[in-house]
Amino acid sequence: VNLALLGFGNVARAFARLLLRKQETLLNDYGLELRVTGIATHSHGIAIDSSGIDLEAALAADMLDALHTGDPVEDSKAFLAACPAQFVIETTWLDPRTGQPATDYVRRALQLGRHVVTANKGPVAFAYRELKSLAAQKDLAFFFESTVMDGGPVLSTLREGLPATDITRIRGVLNSTTNALLCDMEGGTTFAESLRRLQELGIAEADPSNDVDGWDSTVKIVVLANVGMNADLRPQDVDRTGIGQVTPDRVRAAQEAGKRLKLICEAWREDGEVKAKVAPVEVPREDPLSIVEGTSGVVTFHADTLPALTLIESDPTPDTTAYGLLADIINAARGRRWSMVRRRF
Ligand SMILES: NC(=O)c1ccc[n+]([C@@H]2O[C@H](COP(=O)([O-])OP(=O)(O)OC[C@H]3O[C@@H](n4cnc5c(N)ncnc54)[C@H](OP(=O)(O)O)[C@@H]3O)[C@@H](O)[C@H]2O)c1
Repeated sequence: VNLALLGFGNVARAFARLLLRKQETLLNDYGLELRVTGIATHSHGIAIDSSGIDLEAALAADMLDALHTGDPVEDSKAFLAACPAQFVIETTWLDPRTGQPATDYVRRALQLGRHVVTANKGPVAFAYRELKSLAAQKDLAFFFESTVMDGGPVLSTLREGLPATDITRIRGVLNSTTNALLCDMEGGTTFAESLRRLQELGIAEADPSNDVDGWDSTVKIVVLANVGMNADLRPQDVDRTGIGQVTPDRVRAAQEAGKRLKLICEAWREDGEVKAKVAPVEVPREDPLSIVEGTSGVVTFHADTLPALTLIESDPTPDTTAYGLLADIINAARGRRWSMVRRRF
């Protein structure tokens, strides 16, 4: 099975290392030989080699062009058409306010008849129904396990682990940076000190506004609501409050009341509609959402069949995100599709 990697940053590089490590398991257990036939980046070049790119060499290279064979390829769109691959693995940059340019890349890849696996929340938050129906028409997989909780099997649980179930409410702590910030503040660290620490560790971005203002959490609850509750939300539909205004006093007051302040993402049904909200909430200690520390994440599904099912993922990294990509590829190669299990989607 040939793969085209669109984007070769932290996640795609971790994915390349995982492919090298799991080669034997994939072949022995699944009869799968995964070969990367192309890699495209924004400013580190593009390489296509139909006989397979040497991943060790790609990981060591600063510019990828030296690994290219054949005619020059102008840009990422041309790469999608030129790279001989059944799968496009999309890990480019996300603009959380528009979902672009990733949404266009995913649409193009599906139009070209490629299965798509992405770690990018944009296409799912902004164009889930359209892209899913395009994939279904062409009997292609469009999977995105890594978009929520960094590779933990959250979306495949919705897709395959909960048949004949109506999800009535989803609640979660889904953003690593803000959870780590709030945990630090419980220990007496100021917001600014904690942010500096997390930036030094590479957890918080240089511009932390996507996390702090609640955009990342918003996009993730939209993904979960659209997939799990058959909603048709966009990030703009979510009632969003970040943690920028949270004071040490407020964190302390929650602790004194035996609670913990968490940035809670929530989607629920109300008057026949799905609504969603992101806001700092004082969570009682007996609620599983209160227990996640640092960069860990948690989600609880409330359903008509199971009153509450909680998944926790501890200490996510680009390696766990890369695992979500691999799990999606294996599931797609085994013939899994959204339409098989939830026809109404
Ligand atoms: N980091 C995580 O653990 C994590 C977790 C969950 C989801 N994600 C999502 O996964 C995606 C990748 O994350 P990352 O941490 O790997 O990001 P990253 O290190 O910034 O890498 C992004 C890659 O995409 C390339 N790129 C950007 N725009 C492009 C374009 N128009 N055409 C082709 N390539 C383009 C970049 O090229 P250059 O190398 O030339 O800059 C780079 O190789 C993001 O959407 C992120 O939200 C990441």
